[in-house]
Amino acid sequence: MKLKSLLTTMLLGAVSVAANAANDIVIETDNTALVYSVGDNGRLYQHYLGKKMKNPADYTAGPRGGEAYITHGMEDYFEPALHINHPDGNSSSVLKYVSHATKALPDGAKETVITLADDQYPDKVDLHFVAYPRENVIKAYTEIFNNGKKPVTLDKFASSMLHFDRPNYYLTQFNGDWISEARPSEIELKFGKKELDTKLGARANMFVSPFFQLALDEPSRENAGDVLVGTLGWTGNFRFTFEVDQLGKLRVISGINPYFSKYTVKGGESFKTPEFIFTLSNNGKGQASRNLHDWARNYQVHKGNDDRMTLLNNWEATYFDFDEDKLVSLIGEAKQLGVDMFLLDDGWFGNKYPRHSDTQGLGDWDETANKLPNGIGRLTEEAKKQGVKFGIWVEPEMVNPKSELYEQHKDWVITLPNRDEYYFRNQLVLDLSNPKVQDYVFGVVDNLMTKYPDIAFMKWDCNSPITNIYSNYEKDNQTHLYVDYVRGLYKVLDRIQAKYPDLRMMMCSGGGGRTDYEGLKYFTEFWPSDNTDPIDRLFIQWGYSQVFPAKTQCAHVTTWNKSASAKFRTDVAMMGKLGFDINLHDLSENDLKFCQNAIKEYNRLKPVILDGDRYGLVAPYNSNHTATMYVGKDKKQAAVFAFDMFPLNVEHLTNVKLQGLDPNVTYSIKEINKSDATSSHYANYSGEYLMTVGLPLFSTSRMSSRVYELTAM
Ligand code: GLA
Repeated sequence: MKLKSLLTTMLLGAVSVAANAANDIVIETDNTALVYSVGDNGRLYQHYLGKKMKNPADYTAGPRGGEAYITHGMEDYFEPALHINHPDGNSSSVLKYVSHATKALPDGAKETVITLADDQYPDKVDLHFVAYPRENVIKAYTEIFNNGKKPVTLDKFASSMLHFDRPNYYLTQFNGDWISEARPSEIELKFGKKELDTKLGARANMFVSPFFQLALDEPSRENAGDVLVGTLGWTGNFRFTFEVDQLGKLRVISGINPYFSKYTVKGGESFKTPEFIFTLSNNGKGQASRNLHDWARNYQVHKGNDDRMTLLNNWEATYFDFDEDKLVSLIGEAKQLGVDMFLLDDGWFGNKYPRHSDTQGLGDWDETANKLPNGIGRLTEEAKKQGVKFGIWVEPEMVNPKSELYEQHKDWVITLPNRDEYYFRNQLVLDLSNPKVQDYVFGVVDNLMTKYPDIAFMKWDCNSPITNIYSNYEKDNQTHLYVDYVRGLYKVLDRIQAKYPDLRMMMCSGGGGRTDYEGLKYFTEFWPSDNTDPIDRLFIQWGYSQVFPAKTQCAHVTTWNKSASAKFRTDVAMMGKLGFDINLHDLSENDLKFCQNAIKEYNRLKPVILDGDRYGLVAPYNSNHTATMYVGKDKKQAAVFAFDMFPLNVEHLTNVKLQGLDPNVTYSIKEINKSDATSSHYANYSGEYLMTVGLPLFSTSRMSSRVYELTAM
């Protein structure tokens, strides 16, 4: 392929091999370099993307790659990153290098901005790259300026474009549906285009997650090989385009989905894209995931380095069927269990249309008088008395047609004026492009916080995609709605964060319908799935762990799978942000004791599980077993979780090699979290032994599990 590509290049004579070294632009982390150079034609090319090298001149010693940010209408015949329609009807752009600048950011990252401009039109494009050295993560986004007087329209406006020239490419996508989120599948990319996208607007990730793994040369492996993991920080429609051209080269374009999103930029204004965040690992998917976890905790997730609260949630314990007495008693149960917080879920609001089911009441955020005669205040008081924090569920972007809000403000609803309404979960989406709606949505949170300042946590839900797409507010700019909806949401979340910096929030969307890193700037955690069956959760959590740290993934013990023991269910949930969604009287005395003890063990191990390094030892796919371990940053403590899902009665079980330990240290190994709430010493082994010979982690007992704690001696 290399020879073919060189020959074609020479024949076409379009690309000069030597770059202008003075204009080489090197974007580096401790392990990765992304290098651009300027061709004799003044255009910008990606020259290198790969392992960092000692001598910067080596980056441009070889032939350069594709144009950095390919535009519509010129000599390239594949998907462009940018498509601008100019006022004179000309829809082509040619971008030439103008300048670049690099500055250190206060948080230790380094930002490079490359400015390009069209010499025929007053358009300017800034390519931004923020490199995080230690975490080996690079963030890329673009700002497109219309410096003319008349408006231009954008058909395509990618965040980033990357080029690869390797023998083979393997793409892993993560897709599913409600209650089956983040299921990976890997395919080899051949000539042509593969797109991963969503058109759901809100609840945008219901069918596909906004991240991918791209293995270069050979299929992805956990601990070897070059893998680029990328994700878009955008809580709305996204699109990743992977296109292999006639020379076998791959282009990856990431950004907002341009579907029904033609965007007008007025003279003197600009369009800023969301961030494409990526890491390139030379040691497989495991290292890539740890890079992203570190970056997320250090720079991106709201309160990323702070502690997380364990909780008792009433959703699966009561659904809509509760009153003040029942909640007061559950708050007592939260205390008895030993968790940090009680979380009141859906069903507490609406009077004209009380929220007794998901058919009505959404939008009317006053407490249902006959359920909660003394309001939320009685509950926050009770929580205070019991020494637990109080959290509450809201879904402020949505409305049931059977609500006072809908009766009063139909103009705030995204709905077509001349057609029957189509409902998803009996509800519609409010038009967040409208500043009045933004005020209202902010007001839902602000009113609750003003009235009940003891609220410490909110579960912010979003159960419907955008249906019946039409905005009363956007008028002639209907194709702005998908983008402006998300921007409106961020404006609201910015206001909430500014006014209530200590309020913690869970991003929820009918399970994992919202799972992106821009959202997590505002939320401390997300709800990965409404599926809380522990077996299914082993798969779902493994999927999300490719990109998100344990600390961001809420994992609750429920009664979805009654044939799984309380221990099995809890062991699974302990690998995330632990919570319970259960009636204590559904637990036997022994199980209650087990859960109380498990919470204590979890609190002790939080620094390892939530802030340590995750190693996926045995993946659950095509296996009867799975195991994951977490190692504290100082390698002095580790926790190993091993699960037998549906093993055969007779199986050849082999040792599992541990990872991430210090080979020179001896570890004392204890089995903890035993079903009788005890622990016992298992053995002492060196880190080298554990990583070379391993431990017999698995058994042939169905749905059994073990947790080992390793402590450096
Ligand atoms: C969604 C959430 C659930 C629960 C319900 C309440 O489905 O994912 O956890 O909060 O809404 O209606």
